Amino acid sequence: MSDQRLSVVVTRRLPEAVETRLSELFDARLRESDAPMSRDELSEAIRSADVLVPTISDTIDAALLGQAGDRLKLIANYGAGVDHIDVSTARQRGILVSNTPGVLTDDTADMTMALMLAVLRRIPEGLAVMQGDTWEGWAPTAFLGGRVGGRRLGILGMGRIGQAVARRAAAFGMQVHYHNRRRLRPEVEKALEATYWESLDQMVARMDVISVNCPATPSTFHLMNARRLKLMKPEAVIVNTSRGEVIDENALTRMLRAGEIAGAGLDVYEHGTKVNPRLRELGNVVLLPHMGSATREGRIEMGEKVIINIKTFDDGHRPPDQVVPSML
Ligand code: 8YV
Repeated sequence: MSDQRLSVVVTRRLPEAVETRLSELFDARLRESDAPMSRDELSEAIRSADVLVPTISDTIDAALLGQAGDRLKLIANYGAGVDHIDVSTARQRGILVSNTPGVLTDDTADMTMALMLAVLRRIPEGLAVMQGDTWEGWAPTAFLGGRVGGRRLGILGMGRIGQAVARRAAAFGMQVHYHNRRRLRPEVEKALEATYWESLDQMVARMDVISVNCPATPSTFHLMNARRLKLMKPEAVIVNTSRGEVIDENALTRMLRAGEIAGAGLDVYEHGTKVNPRLRELGNVVLLPHMGSATREGRIEMGEKVIINIKTFDDGHRPPDQVVPSML
């Protein structure tokens, strides 16, 4: 245990229990406002802190890291995805990076299913009718969606969240297929009853539902580009609870408008909060404001992970959730 308390700067408001514990353990500088830090505030933070606790709303790029002082030793990200952090530059500068995997897996997988159900079963349309008080009563042919059971689900990215989606989808009677950089071990594949496709193109062309569950890295940028989106069956739908950059949002919007793809359920967007306005106009699209992992339990457990990573580092060990460039 070190004699002096680590100086920890937290860039966003976190659940109260997490902030309290951070203050008990460290010399924590907590955020008063819930707005993301400005670039200047971030720059000041990385010059003066031993540890930075950022979130997805902070861009920790090479230019910013170039301003880090000698003190900054750990970036303990509050979140699983680290695409907003230049992990290679951090490593070159001797700054460790950690994240919070595992604790948001189930919540994100639940939200993936919620989006899938919402699109296939037209839940927003039903909701709008009830909220607008325009329901004229039950009719045999009203609000007909597609049956979930029996549909072929193609999971793009079979990590923790992809596998959690696979388990849920199987319980709904879906046929599970996947594409991943590495094929799963045979026993895992068997337990999930999942069919592996080496060719993403071939998988995409045969699925009824595509679920994007891979991280955003240079190699997954626009993995679902215009050419690949065109391979989808016109009656197929796509859901994304991962990162918007994996799908070419403009191409997707064009194809949804043209009826070349039947629907989409999106929790994340290519340009952050700047959602393509045309997407909002479409009835076959369900949009959520990046709330896949937004449960009270999950957000506290994410904070606990951050604390364990900082504490372990403070005790002279490698943070358990250290992220290194070769993992990305
Ligand atoms: C988080 C996420 O809530 O953990 C992630 O990668 O996408 C979100 O669900 C967010 O990133 C917090 O930084």
